[in-house]
Amino acid sequence: MALNQLFDLTGQTAIVTGGGSGLGRVMALALAEAGANVVICSRRKEICEEVVKEIETLGGQALALALDVTDPESVVQGVEKVVSQFGKIEILVNNCGTVFEAPAAEMPLEQWQSMLNTNVTGTFLMCQAVGKHMINSEYGKIINISSSIGFKGTDPEAVDSVGYTTSKGAVMTLTKDLAVKWGRHGVNVNSIAPGVFTTGMNNPEIPGTLVNKAGDFIAAQVPVRRLGRDSDLAGAVLYFASTASDYCTGQILVIDGGLGAK
Ligand SMILES: NC(=O)c1ccc[n+]([C@@H]2O[C@H](COP(=O)([O-])OP(=O)(O)OC[C@H]3O[C@@H](n4cnc5c(N)ncnc54)[C@H](OP(=O)(O)O)[C@@H]3O)[C@@H](O)[C@H]2O)c1
Repeated sequence: MALNQLFDLTGQTAIVTGGGSGLGRVMALALAEAGANVVICSRRKEICEEVVKEIETLGGQALALALDVTDPESVVQGVEKVVSQFGKIEILVNNCGTVFEAPAAEMPLEQWQSMLNTNVTGTFLMCQAVGKHMINSEYGKIINISSSIGFKGTDPEAVDSVGYTTSKGAVMTLTKDLAVKWGRHGVNVNSIAPGVFTTGMNNPEIPGTLVNKAGDFIAAQVPVRRLGRDSDLAGAVLYFASTASDYCTGQILVIDGGLGAK
């Protein structure tokens, strides 16, 4: 295959959960630029519609969908709608996520459950609903967004959310297990583990976010001496979404400027 076709997604269908904001928006735009028809879904359809407009302005095709990943009915209905509209789904980016900070000893059970429901069960429900179609068509690329803080313990002064770190570790294991189970069906399952990016849940303008509290301090610890930018994720998502990664599955690609290497 010619090198310039390796990353070409023309005519393929991609779903990006949580694509109406932050990192999801960035990845949705990258997939659209590579030629995919992108379905952008989350609970707030209106923010997804804004990204659809952006993609259409750039000449791409996209669809906004209201979908709650924690609700099995909403997931199945949403996925069926995509299949009936586009016929197939080649790419799924499980990006949506939620975080709530509180000391571990006081973490409210409902917040723990909310993080596990959205970040782990939601990812699993989407993999299950879309995976069935991918297995039938013997082709699929699933990309689960975990986090660099899902590998190990985190100082409470940095991110005080035992539910979040636990959920992101689980997303990595889910990724590996599905990769092993579905590799024989032509479905690749990989994960991107972002470090600290200056967007979404780390928006520096929102009081209390990690970057708002300690952005300069963290940037000084990062070997490349800066926080993550939008463009830092585009190449990774295109690699995992395209035939370029056909022989790569069950992997966690850490994009953290080298922080985890220390
Ligand atoms: N920003 C970072 O530095 C960073 C670092 C490491 C990992 N991450 C991960 O990257 C992903 C995106 O985060 P972000 O920073 O871009 O934050 P964000 O802007 O807050 O994005 C989260 C998205 O998830 C959607 N969402 C939440 N609950 C949902 C549900 N039940 N069903 C469907 N959609 C739901 C939200 O949309 P609605 O509210 O409309 O549902 C929102 O669009 C997350 O998995 C996060 O853990 C981010």
